[in-house]
Amino acid sequence: MVYYIRFLKTPRFQQQKKSVFISALICITTDLGDDFLAEDVDLTASWVQHPSHKIRYQTALQWQAGSRQVPILLGPFSPNDAAGQTAVLKIQLPDVEKDVLGEHSTPLVISGCSAPFGPQWEPAEQLIRRDLNIADNVRPLRIWEETGNSIARHIWDAALAAIIFLEKVITGAEKSMPPLSQLLNSGKSTLQVVELGAGCGIVGIALATMLANCEVLLTDLPEVSEIVTRNINEASPKSSASIKFQTLDWDDPTPNLTRGPIDLILVSDCTYNADSLPALVSVLNRLVRGSPGAMVLVALKRRHESEAVFFDLMRAAGFVSLQAKVPLPAQWEQVDQIEMYCYQQESDVEKA
Ligand SMILES: C[S@@+](CC[C@H](N)C(=O)[O-])C[C@H]1O[C@@H](n2cnc3c(N)ncnc32)[C@H](O)[C@@H]1O
Repeated sequence: MVYYIRFLKTPRFQQQKKSVFISALICITTDLGDDFLAEDVDLTASWVQHPSHKIRYQTALQWQAGSRQVPILLGPFSPNDAAGQTAVLKIQLPDVEKDVLGEHSTPLVISGCSAPFGPQWEPAEQLIRRDLNIADNVRPLRIWEETGNSIARHIWDAALAAIIFLEKVITGAEKSMPPLSQLLNSGKSTLQVVELGAGCGIVGIALATMLANCEVLLTDLPEVSEIVTRNINEASPKSSASIKFQTLDWDDPTPNLTRGPIDLILVSDCTYNADSLPALVSVLNRLVRGSPGAMVLVALKRRHESEAVFFDLMRAAGFVSLQAKVPLPAQWEQVDQIEMYCYQQESDVEKA
């Protein structure tokens, strides 16, 4: 289980007597926000000048096992140092230069960068940015999440695993799902990709930064629209790749989503709520029946037993799957296995 640095209070400049400080309150928690890191870790807090990225000041702090939050106070600075400054506060592990997503490189604690704040006293927006490196040849994936505990507007562990898995399939290092490998390496002129329950959009955006010639349509409920649009605007898709967002509620009739038939549907960490699974599977069924041969890649972190109904519903809808696992780091040097399923409709597999 990966842990994420989050702001409980976003940073701001604060005047105390004749000095200026940067103050914030952080925690290190799971994607669900239901547990805190129970290990001691050293952290570095940096005042980064915005937009030059120059580090103005850095200090060490410690998260101690049993903590639920850690206050941050950088300074004192003279009011002249802070005057007119727009700043960003970055919190990271001191020995991790950058967060690299990979089977053996994903850090246990994911760093975070605040939204800009200053030059006045207002706090930064309630957001945190993750800079995740996926492959040497692509720019870091910049994904904004909300700092609160909304389900939709932040990153979930299965999304990290899905990105690691997709990168390995694209580079040929992962061969457990031959139809998916063929699809992603087919050089098809335009690959139509739809993501359901995209949240911040991290998986679909990552795919478009790794794969040329794909048109990625991220879908979710209207509540993600603002954060996903921000992330699309900051994305660096590969040549001829594009990323768009459209609202899609699984409980509503499914509209036409793409210009041509869909090649791939991405679903990451959407099986946690058993009540919504019939609607999810029925959307998948409708989309794949409208695009024969389409594949569905599901990244799934088991959270409770009721999720197993997803497999029954997929089987009843005529889906068959290939399976793999992606390890993510967990506390005490343990490993958390995220399950990956590549589904195709049985009739499509027989025809192939
Ligand atoms: C746990 S989040 C996963 C977000 C993202 N895929 C990730 O892995 O980071 C589940 C997502 O499913 C979406 N979702 C839940 N019910 C939905 C529905 N009825 N229609 C569309 N999206 C839904 C939520 O809004 C949320 O963004």
